[in-house]
Amino acid sequence: MKISIIGTGYVGLVTGVCLSDFNTVYCIDNDKAKINMLNKGTIPIYEPGLNHIMQKNVKNKRLFFTSDLSSTIQKTDILIIAVGTPQNEKGAADLSNVFKVIKIIAASINNYKLIVIKSTVPVGTCKKIESIIRKSADKNAQFDVISNPEFLREGKAIKDFKNPDRIIVGINNMGQSSKAKKIMEIIYKPFLKAKNNIYFMDTNSSELTKYASNAMLALRISFINELANLCSLTDANIDDVRIGVGSDKRIGKLFLYPGIGYGGSCFPKDVKALYQTSIEKNYDFKLLKALDNANSHQKQILIEYILKHFNSNIKNKTFTLWGLSFKPETDDIREAPSLAIISKLLSHGAKIKAYDPIAIDNAKRIFPQIDYFNNMYDALKNSDGLIIATEWNNFKAPNFNTIKTLLNHKVIFDGRNIYDFKKMKNLGFDYYSIGRKPIIINK
Ligand SMILES: NC(=O)c1ccc[n+]([C@@H]2O[C@H](COP(=O)([O-])OP(=O)(O)OC[C@H]3O[C@@H](n4cnc5c(N)ncnc54)[C@H](O)[C@@H]3O)[C@@H](O)[C@H]2O)c1
Repeated sequence: MKISIIGTGYVGLVTGVCLSDFNTVYCIDNDKAKINMLNKGTIPIYEPGLNHIMQKNVKNKRLFFTSDLSSTIQKTDILIIAVGTPQNEKGAADLSNVFKVIKIIAASINNYKLIVIKSTVPVGTCKKIESIIRKSADKNAQFDVISNPEFLREGKAIKDFKNPDRIIVGINNMGQSSKAKKIMEIIYKPFLKAKNNIYFMDTNSSELTKYASNAMLALRISFINELANLCSLTDANIDDVRIGVGSDKRIGKLFLYPGIGYGGSCFPKDVKALYQTSIEKNYDFKLLKALDNANSHQKQILIEYILKHFNSNIKNKTFTLWGLSFKPETDDIREAPSLAIISKLLSHGAKIKAYDPIAIDNAKRIFPQIDYFNNMYDALKNSDGLIIATEWNNFKAPNFNTIKTLLNHKVIFDGRNIYDFKKMKNLGFDYYSIGRKPIIINK
């Protein structure tokens, strides 16, 4: 099959690279600098395992990168749209990137096109796109607009794409002989193994499934975070409560880890966008509003501890932040809790030293004024406290003696509960974590 992927970001690049194992794929982006980089063999994002498959398929002439949308549309049959759908000022999904692409597709259709909407879009978007193309394209134009939301996780994207839990495909008026359905079955066959985990439904249901999945996961995270906050006030220990609750098969243990809030390019914006959809339909989806508020509050939990520890005066104090990305194994800092923490500390007149294995370049674009280090221990020299904002593996078993020697104040604010609570009691630090009683010995 000949496939265009329009939008070569975290989703589009992974999709294009993985599909090029079995098809001829053109990855298209209007960011020419990104396309130039890719054509030189450089990957603009950090995603483990991506480089190897990309190089192999470029060499075998199955994978191409271009900025030329119109002519590439004409030489391919399947157009997968994976452009960004960020939130607008109201919190709804901004679909301007999608509609720009649709306008060009409508003007370029030469033969049958299967237009696959992989970007996360609000319920009803595929139907809207279909009617836009019907109105503006040649009246003989043949095409289908279908929904195929993506569920991959950054950092595990290759594994997720190649071994999906499920594939959701939304097709309207789908009869036995649906061309769109047959094409989607062929495209995904190599990734389905023995499991029959491709689910066909109408486009509205498919679009809503994507938002519902992210909102449900965000809800679990916000629930355990709020429970952790209650634990801190009751001397209960969230580690034990989490295991006790999660051991119920009906509940399960996944996505029940307390922390400093969810971030990234999906959960925050998708929760907000789903809420806006409910408002547009004159329905107030109260839970969504509540979990969005809970998450904003959670991002400030460590700040509350920091201010309390330093008697509300942190002007000219220096803090070291370990971790900038919104989660480990990615360089993505969109909506990362670290950003909220840095902003707040700066507004109180504090100074910041930061270390992250791969997200420093992205953070520099937002906070050029803070000091960045390529070594996690160098970032600790003469600092008044260590803040852990991302649970990277190399933070999990550090040399505590070195940390103690380098810090001015022996205090750790652990936003990810990466250290064993019982062990921390004997290490000589003041230690604040989430949903566990603060350990105060030096103050
Ligand atoms: N990142 C994730 O983990 C993830 C997971 C599932 C779904 N999604 C959804 O997938 C979509 C893409 O997300 P992403 O994280 O890959 O975004 P991204 O910002 O990393 O990439 C989007 C790309 O689209 C390009 N683009 C924008 N307008 C364009 C246009 N008119 N023509 C050509 N290219 C254009 C941008 O230059 C960019 O490279 C979003 O709707 C997102 O919600 C993301």
